[in-house]
Amino acid sequence: MSLFQPPGASPLAAPLSPPVDVVIMAAGKGTRMKSRLPKVLQRLAHVPLVQHVLATAQQLQARSAVVITGHGAERVEAALADIGGALALKFVRQEPQLGTGHAVQQAVPVLTDDGVVVVLSGDVPLTQADTLQALISLCAGQHLALLTIDLPDPTGYGRVVRAGDAVQAIVEHKDANAQQRTITEIYSGIMAVPAALLKRWLARLDNNNAQGEYYLTDIVKFAAQDGVTVLAQKTLDAVQVAGINSPVQLAELERSFQHRQALALMEAGVRLSDPARLDVRGHLLCGMDVEIDVNCIFEGDVSLGDGVRVGANCVLANCAIAAGAVIHPFTHIDGGAQGVSVGEGALIGPFARLRPGAQLGAQVHIGNFVEVKNSTLAAGAKANHLAYLGDATVGARVNFGAGSITANYDGTNKHRTTIEADVHVGSNCVLVAPVTLGAGATVGGGSTITKDVPAGALSVARGKQTNLANWARPAKKSAK
Ligand code: UD1
Ligand code: MG
Repeated sequence: MSLFQPPGASPLAAPLSPPVDVVIMAAGKGTRMKSRLPKVLQRLAHVPLVQHVLATAQQLQARSAVVITGHGAERVEAALADIGGALALKFVRQEPQLGTGHAVQQAVPVLTDDGVVVVLSGDVPLTQADTLQALISLCAGQHLALLTIDLPDPTGYGRVVRAGDAVQAIVEHKDANAQQRTITEIYSGIMAVPAALLKRWLARLDNNNAQGEYYLTDIVKFAAQDGVTVLAQKTLDAVQVAGINSPVQLAELERSFQHRQALALMEAGVRLSDPARLDVRGHLLCGMDVEIDVNCIFEGDVSLGDGVRVGANCVLANCAIAAGAVIHPFTHIDGGAQGVSVGEGALIGPFARLRPGAQLGAQVHIGNFVEVKNSTLAAGAKANHLAYLGDATVGARVNFGAGSITANYDGTNKHRTTIEADVHVGSNCVLVAPVTLGAGATVGGGSTITKDVPAGALSVARGKQTNLANWARPAKKSAK
């Protein structure tokens, strides 16, 4: 499974020194989500929150990622099992959950002393690798580096207490006095710290505080006591440190994320009718002069060639649309694992459905209420209205009439239909596979074709028309 990456994201250049180990806290319950799904598996842009965090760790070229699980541990571990790539993925359990300091204590046995540890949360999905890279540089293998932010309403967060410029402590909201509560600079929950120091400080934590928890944030006070420099890097970007606690926050962050993707696409030249009405849940690659109307959804890997136009209300998943093609409104394309390809200058929709394995050549026309699955259509082939092409090989310039279908399934097996170049299939025909229509053949409307049709022949397979002159319709019986 490939990890999700926002557009323009790429692994940062040289491996870092000292090595980076990422610790991701993901044991919390997420009560406010009111969901059976563990919070960190809720999806943003169709990707579990914690997987966004792991993708960022991969971009950092971290040596390892330690995921601390607790609530729904089995499900979280199963969801992430196949992911990691070059990143060594480790899981440790935290049961019960006695606070963020207690959480990171569980990771101590799997952290080596030579690294810098970056602490992240599985429910904070949109932190960018360059922000973390700057924090790691600030840590420089010897300092404690905190990511902070000024919030107009800091209620609930840990306050950054300074003496002059020097950071002295983080005081949790519930432990803060009235004067400390006026501080608007808060700790984001993200830090970079040398592993050896982290371990030393974790061993000194206690739970003598308002919440009776082991606070990770108490290590700031120990650093100050030990004469280790504590540096705070303030971000101006609230989206990067935003955590998810409720469906409302999830939806808000989804919009922020989609807006960023829309801006990136427009900066690359894509014309969006409305950046607020676009959803990209995967990778969307666009050529020049691409136009996308409102309410379109792109999933998985989608590429749109130069000059492609996508009409309103289309869903495009795992497909490649070649230059100059037009996807008319309300079209649904889902390439699944096989993919779908649409050739240059093709016209698709409105209300078309392309399923896995549809391979359409240049200038193909697929019109309203036409479904194509696992079929190849050569250049210039047309199925403009109300048709089904499944498991078919369709030659160039074939015209497939309204209401005609390939009967590809005998109840047990699927069979192929071959329609050679320049065939004309009339309306309301059933082509019972396996069957071949030779080049240039014509099939009369309403025919059910069960045998091969030779090239150039006309095939008509339907009841002959009978006309009875002066037909008197049955009269109604009179009521009693
Ligand atoms: C924490 C910080 C606070 C900061 C805030 C930013 C502490 C003590 N406080 O607050 O200074 O402003 O984050 O959002 O660290 N978790 C576990 N196990 C636990 C407890 C928490 O895995 O025992 C996980 C949660 O699932 C979550 C993350 O740690 O992903 C942070 O926990 P949360 O309760 O949201 O943070 P606070 O304690 O409110
Ligand atoms: Mg808490």
